[in-house]
Amino acid sequence: MSKRYYIETMGCQMNEYDSDHLSRILEDSGYLRASAPEQADFVLLNTCSVRAKAEQKALSRLGRLASLKRKNPRLRLAVAGCVAQQRGVELFERFPGLDLVLGPREIGNFRGILGKTEMGGTRVAAVDAHGTPVSFAGGFEYFHHSVKAYITIMEGCNNFCSYCIVPYVRGRETSRPPQELLGEARNLTLQGVKEITLLGQNVNSYAHEKMRFPGLLQAMNEIKGLHRIRFTTSHPKDLSPELIQCFGRLEKLCAHIHLPFQAGSNRVLKAMKRRYTREKYMDLIGELRAARPGIAVTSDVMVGFPGETEEDFEMTLDLIRRVEFDNLFSFKYSDREGTPAAKMEGKIPEPQKLARLDRLQELQRKITLKKNKELIGRSLEILVEGASKKGLGLTGRTITNKVVNFINDKRYINKLINVTIKRASFNSLWGELTSL
Ligand code: 5AD
Ligand code: SF4
Repeated sequence: MSKRYYIETMGCQMNEYDSDHLSRILEDSGYLRASAPEQADFVLLNTCSVRAKAEQKALSRLGRLASLKRKNPRLRLAVAGCVAQQRGVELFERFPGLDLVLGPREIGNFRGILGKTEMGGTRVAAVDAHGTPVSFAGGFEYFHHSVKAYITIMEGCNNFCSYCIVPYVRGRETSRPPQELLGEARNLTLQGVKEITLLGQNVNSYAHEKMRFPGLLQAMNEIKGLHRIRFTTSHPKDLSPELIQCFGRLEKLCAHIHLPFQAGSNRVLKAMKRRYTREKYMDLIGELRAARPGIAVTSDVMVGFPGETEEDFEMTLDLIRRVEFDNLFSFKYSDREGTPAAKMEGKIPEPQKLARLDRLQELQRKITLKKNKELIGRSLEILVEGASKKGLGLTGRTITNKVVNFINDKRYINKLINVTIKRASFNSLWGELTSL
């Protein structure tokens, strides 16, 4: 009987890309995909530790998976991702059933490590944070038969924002060679992919020999058969005029940018070590909107950073009102061990953080709804991905990354079509095929 594997992925898109790479190696080594962990011989949990809650969730899930070993002692259990990197060998003590701890920068070595883990008898911890980033070189993509794909173009972060664990778990910035990335993008396009999202903790710091991020986007834009290009995430301090101009110049670059601002008070931004001011951030948004009218802007924001006063928080609300984001991912600050912010004074009590988060989300809800309602009556191009989660027909996204549901007609799956927006709610739009 064939061996089976099961991978569960938590956290960001970079983890999804890494999980694809791990799946591909397991399949090359003779494993078939299992639909549940109970049916697998090799179970891997790919984890996130960016916020305390994500880490707790990962550890409790790992506990549940470890209990499967009591029923099936031959099962091999692995943990990958940022919790693996952060906690390392200490996870072996906590989870006696665990066989492998694999950091994000060790994925390139997984093929060799897998053999050792399969033999059993030794537990392996591979947690060097300075390894080379994952490579899918040589037409090695993991293809989902989907119209959308990700490509990790760079790994790591050199910014060391004072609250963030990423530089410690994902190591320093390393960019993949452009030839490899373009080859990967061309292969995906030949297999039917129409939209590619370029991933990195800080994509606009992409640098490989003479190639910079705008140059890479330009080269991607020339790939025949590719229709849409997206990227995430960018740091405001590195958003160069050349990159802003790409939004006006490159027709395949989608009209959407995710640009985390984190806080609206200059005092807090300084304590966060973000290296920009609220004025600079708002100027950038103005420049982006001038380069590409109608561009959607989404962002990340935190409430309750150590020392955040009511006035600081009001500045955050004020920035949100002024910018009018299309959507916002908002979080309560949480201590991450080893970061400078974890040692700062003036920690904000949990109920206060929650109250601030509620107020902020209420404000953004109104803005998102207003922006979505403005689209009623407009005809928009959407890339149809498949059935919507709620079973309300098909679903796709606009170039501004908004979800649109429309009537169920399988002919349109994987196609680019025009849809006229008829209804709008806070989290989605409902449309009908535009009649020509
Ligand atoms: N606490 C809360 N939120 C955090 N983020 C990063 N670190 C922390 C932390 N310690 C948020 C930031 C980032 C997003 C991915 O997670 O807003 O942009
Ligand atoms: Fe973390 Fe800041 Fe790097 Fe983003 S830019 S990954 S918030 S250190």
